[in-house]
Amino acid sequence: MTTKLLFQDPATFASPLLTVFAVDTATGKDEPAAPALLNPSEALAKAAALWLTSGEFKATLGETLLLHSPSGLKAERLLIVGLGKAKALSVHEVRKGAGVAVRFAKPRGLRELSILFPGDKALPGSLTARTLAEGALVADFDIDIYRSDRKDQSIGTVTVLHVEANEKSLAEMQTGFAEGIILGESQNFARTLVNEPGNILTPTELGKRTAAMCSEFGLQCEVHSIDKILELKMGAFAAVTQGSVEPPALIVMRYEPATPPAADTPVIGLVGKGITFDTGGISIKPAENMDKMKYDMAGAAAMIGAMRAIAQLKPNVRVVSVVCSCENMPDGKAFKPGDVITAMSGKTIEILNTDAEGRLVLADGLHYAQQLGATRLINAATLTGAIGVALGLLNAGLFSNDDATVEQFTNGLPVSGEKFWRMPCTDDYREQIRSQIADIMNTGGSRYGGATTAAMFLKEFVGETPWIHLDIAGTAWIDEVKPWQSKGPSGIAVRSITEWVRSYAS
Ligand code: BES
Ligand code: ZN
Ligand code: ZN
Repeated sequence: MTTKLLFQDPATFASPLLTVFAVDTATGKDEPAAPALLNPSEALAKAAALWLTSGEFKATLGETLLLHSPSGLKAERLLIVGLGKAKALSVHEVRKGAGVAVRFAKPRGLRELSILFPGDKALPGSLTARTLAEGALVADFDIDIYRSDRKDQSIGTVTVLHVEANEKSLAEMQTGFAEGIILGESQNFARTLVNEPGNILTPTELGKRTAAMCSEFGLQCEVHSIDKILELKMGAFAAVTQGSVEPPALIVMRYEPATPPAADTPVIGLVGKGITFDTGGISIKPAENMDKMKYDMAGAAAMIGAMRAIAQLKPNVRVVSVVCSCENMPDGKAFKPGDVITAMSGKTIEILNTDAEGRLVLADGLHYAQQLGATRLINAATLTGAIGVALGLLNAGLFSNDDATVEQFTNGLPVSGEKFWRMPCTDDYREQIRSQIADIMNTGGSRYGGATTAAMFLKEFVGETPWIHLDIAGTAWIDEVKPWQSKGPSGIAVRSITEWVRSYAS
């Protein structure tokens, strides 16, 4: 999909579908809806006047109204998209609104559409431009690449029209728009990886696609085999992969800024869980929904997507990313409950459940990222079913050992528009993972607080390094289609991680 930002009057722009946003300006609780267009030109206001006052369109978020052959406009159709209450308007509604327009056009065979840039005091120009591009791109993604009857469904061109702007705001909007394209495309890149089935996206294939992305965008990349994993003494990662006939991949990406950052700038480490299929291993999962475990590499995909964005946004900060990718399979050679293994850090781990494999590969990934120089760490992982039990499917879990790092991460959320909720990860939980025969065990032994005990396990491997763990098991795959987003992989965390990395730029 091509996205453009043009400075042109929407009334004279020829388009199969012109989208304008509307809000409900009613303020009182029992007041009837009072829809109003955002930033209308005279011609637009005229074309829509009758419909806006008819009472059949209330401008709720995601609501649409289609007018054919609107009078006074060059567009063949006018689509009015509701963004909800005027009082609650923010760029997040604009992101969704742009998505609604794209997902309205897609099934109707329209391959081109235009969107009028919304004007409101709650909508800063640059960020609004960014969210329009993000929303349109993210909405264009569908999980139908293996359906022969659904070829070429993508939108060809989305043109955002802005009527007037001074030179400064014009440049700001163009920068924001370009950033939105990078972020939206990188999020979709991650979603494409997550959507791939386990037979196609093996660890080897994930390595190949990551290396191809890195060479396209000028990142350094190494994909290591089992030999290196054993040489590094990554005993936890090696234990998880040993039951699979698919070779594992230890993927290392590096972003080096053009000019050296200031001496006190941290080196950021991004670590991803890349289990391309999780059967549970010897502690095998039930058959129901096991197919979903192809998305157990969504944490890895988030990091790869973020690196793709970072490579293009070029912040002045060094970034190293470690992705530990393998399958978790039952086999005669598979690791077993009761086994004791030694992680790269030297800590011994008693295996209680081979289905708690994500924390094992991450233990070695987090340790290695520090060896490679990372002084701030973030990892993302579809780590526990328990995080969905705790938080539902709306917020991803955030765990950390450092308040300042959390603050730096959450400061970016109003821009990224993603939802994370901080969960406890304090030392009083450590008791739950204490083992009688090794340093720690790989589960908390009880269902209670399962997401926290998993986080406590990871914490054992980060030492004093400020660290954030994002448990995205409940949010990386969406079963419900939204008016602005298809079901399937969400691409969660790409935008927030990128924003967080940028916040360290010197
Ligand atoms: N990959 C799963 C977690 C998961 C569950 C991801 C649901 C996405 C959706 C993880 O490896 C796992 O199986 N965790 C176990 C841990 C338990 C054995 C302590 C879980 O959550 O049940
Ligand atoms: Zn598992
Ligand atoms: Zn898993």
